[in-house]
Parts: sequence; C-alpha cells; structure tokens
Amino acid sequence: MSETVKIIYQGKEYEYPVIEGTMGDKGIDISSLRLDSGLITLDPGYKNTGSTLSKITYLDGEQGKLMYRGYPIEQLAEKSSFVEVQYLLLYGELPTEVELEKFKASLKDYSFVNDRVRKILNGFPSTAHPMGVLASLTGSLTAFNPKVVDVAHAADMFHAVTRLLAKFPILSAWTYRLSKELPISESDPSLGYVENFCQLMFSNQKKDFKVNPVIVDAIDKLLILHADHEQNCSASTVRLVGSSHAGLFTSISAGISALWGARHGGANQAVIEMLETIKTGGGRLQKWVDKAKDKDDEFRLMGFGHRVYKNMDPRAKIIKKAADDVLEQLGIDDEVLDIALGLEEVALKDEYFIERKLYPNVDFYSGIIYRALGIPKEMFTVMFALGRLPGWIAQWKEMRQTDQPIGRPRQIYTGATTRDYLPMSER
Ligand code: CMC
Repeated sequence: MSETVKIIYQGKEYEYPVIEGTMGDKGIDISSLRLDSGLITLDPGYKNTGSTLSKITYLDGEQGKLMYRGYPIEQLAEKSSFVEVQYLLLYGELPTEVELEKFKASLKDYSFVNDRVRKILNGFPSTAHPMGVLASLTGSLTAFNPKVVDVAHAADMFHAVTRLLAKFPILSAWTYRLSKELPISESDPSLGYVENFCQLMFSNQKKDFKVNPVIVDAIDKLLILHADHEQNCSASTVRLVGSSHAGLFTSISAGISALWGARHGGANQAVIEMLETIKTGGGRLQKWVDKAKDKDDEFRLMGFGHRVYKNMDPRAKIIKKAADDVLEQLGIDDEVLDIALGLEEVALKDEYFIERKLYPNVDFYSGIIYRALGIPKEMFTVMFALGRLPGWIAQWKEMRQTDQPIGRPRQIYTGATTRDYLPMSER
C-alpha cells in the first residue's frame, strides 16, 4: 500500500501520494495542490522543495554520503578518471573500452575553438574576472553552433555534448592566459583531457613543455569530486534556463554565472582570501570564528556549512587528504594549510558551529591544492566550473529527455493592494 499525506484546509480533506526514491528518500507529490485547493506551497530558497526526479546523483546530507549513478564518490576518486566520470554521469553506466575510446576520440576531434572566439576573448580587459569571461565565451559558442540539438537523437546529442566538453578546457585556460596577458595556447591531441588542460594553461608555447604527473593526478581527482552535486544552485539554473528550451551552451553559460557567487562555487576563492587575511593578521583564529558568529557582522566562515550536508562533506574529507599528499609530493610547506587545519579545529569545537551542524565543505581545502599547483585564486571557481560541466550537461540532458515542463515558481504577493494612478502633481 503506497503512503499518502492528507491536507485539511477549510474543512476539506485533500490526499497526496508520497513518492519514494530508490535510496529511500521521500517527498509529497503536491503537483495538483493548487488546482484542488487554491493553495500553493511557500519555501524560500527551496529548502524543502524537490524540483525533479533524477537518476544522476544521490546525496545524503545527514550521513555525508555522495554517489554518482550509484557509485560512491570515494571509489570514483580513487579508481576512476575524470573522463570516465564524465561518461558515467552522461550515460548512466561506466563505459566499456570501446565506448570510452569513441568518447575520447570525439573529445579530441572537437578540441579546437573558432578563430572568431579568440577575437571576442581579446576584447576583454586582462583585469576581467575569469568567470565572467568564461560565461561570455561559453554563451558565444551558440553563435558558432546555431543548429538546435535534437535531444531525442542519440548521435546528435553525443556530438553536442562532446563538442562542449572538448572546447570548455580551452576556454577555461584562455581566461587564465588573458588575465596573465599570455599568448593563447592550442590543444595538443597527443595528450589526455586533464594533461591537455594543464598544457593549455601553463605552456608558454615551448615545444618541450612537460606536465608534472602529480599535478595532473591532483587536478583529475578534484574534477571528479566536483563533477555533480544534484540540484544545487547552478545545476538548478541550468535546468531552469534549459526548461524554456534555450540551447545547451546558453543554459551552461547561465550555470557558470550562478556558480560564480561566493555562497556557491566562488567560496573556494573566498576561502583562500580569508586564510591569507588571517595569516597576515597574525593567525588569531578565535577572532575570525567570533566574527563569523556575530549576527551584526555579515562575515561567514568561508568553506563552512552546506545547504544539504549536516555532517562532514565527504568531498572535503578526500580533498583534505589530497591537499596533504600534494603539498608533500611537491615539497611545499604552506602555512595556510596549518591555518586551515587550526581553523577547522577551533570551529568544530565551537557550540555555534556544532548546534548548526556547520562542517567544512568541498571548498575549504580545494583552494590550498590549487594554490600549491600554481593556479591563481581568481581561477579557482573556473576549476570548479570545469569539474561541474559534465554534471550540468547530464542535468540538462535528463531534463530535456524526460520532457519536463517549463520551470516557473509561484509567489505570495505582499505588495500594495490595488490603487489608482497618481498624477505627478499629487505625489
Ligand atoms: N559561517 C557562519 N555561520 C554560518 C555559516 C558560515 N559559513 N553558514 C551558515 N551559517 C549559519 C547561518 O548564519 C544560520 O544561522 P542562524 O540559524 O542563527 O540564522 C545557520 O548557520 C544556517 O545557515 P543558512 O544560511 O540558513 O544555511 P543555508 O543552507 O541557506 O546556506 C551556505 C548554506 C553554504 C550558503 C552557507 O552555509 C554559507 O554561506 N557558507 C559559506 C559559503 C560557502 O562555503 N559556500 C560553499 C558551499 S559548498 C560548494 C557548493 O556546492 O557550492
């Protein structure tokens, strides 16, 4: 017998089915509520609102669990590669050798960018934030690929998806090169996806440029950890924009803009800036924890707290260990890592953080690794975007292929009641 929930309003009873997911999570299907009763639900920030059914990513915030297509994030971070995870997110299964080769070949085939995009890039000042440049360049790809993707046609989708995945590392690396006023770089088809990205970022057109495998491995792992996170702000943006049947590139460009904010992906840059400020100010950790607790102060401890995790973010656990390994392997002694460890310790013992279940999130340690790899802090959120791209595309693809209605929330109006227009002389 399936469960139901009853709502009693003005003496009338309405019954709604409880929908259960494969991992046991439950929600009330109120899709006919307004039609039945005239009521809507009010849930600012969608804290209790499920916008969709999805088969892509499962996360249990209370237990600190994250899985892509059923595979625990810990196993994927240890055993898989970013390209394999891209395929998994998009197609629901780990690829066979043949499938992976075909996927990789297509990524190589599309790894070039139209010359005119370079002109657009050069129109930006080198002081522009890389995330703004990345959102604009990604949106501009629509102009060079105007054909509407047939979402029901597997080959059409395969090419649309691999085209975007292939061009994105180039655009991402170019935003960095613009900020450093370096000449733009070209893809090297002899290299793997992540290795090629490193080359695109750091090569100075030297033929003998060699990428450090420690760096490639660390970036690969970080990209896997960021690859999807179900209905977060940027993924929901991609779905919402895409639900109007706006194209793939435009929907992803909107997702990049949503990710940029300091409460979402922009937190990784904000964390390092915060840790550097603490270091410069003499490392007084309690002062910053107190500042974060002060309700008259807007400051929040960056890299702490999460809408869904009320336990340690499982990605943060993996990244903390990876940060340690990378610093050791590269022989870097970074005082900022010690400050981060100290801050985590002070905060986790503090009643304010305990009560509110505020734990370090994915962004708390990722910046320390990026810094050790020589990636400037303005690029941290671009790195997040590069990792999140397959997740955004998978969410867009699932939304379009399950033919979801256009996203259109309602509101409770609290403005002025009806009144007559006042001529200027009477205002
Ligand atoms: N420092 C101090 N207090 C905090 C923090 C923080 N980092 N995060 C939440 N709180 C407090 C908040 O003030 C509120 O207190 P009260 O109940 O007394 O009003 C309570 O904890 C609940 O916070 P909330 O803002 O209602 O929670 P939310 O789910 O709306 O926000 C968040 C989640 C991630 C936006 C928030 O925790 C935050 O701003 N954290 C810092 C930014 C950050 O690290 N963002 C990266 C998130 S992980 C990467 C990603 O997936 O985007």
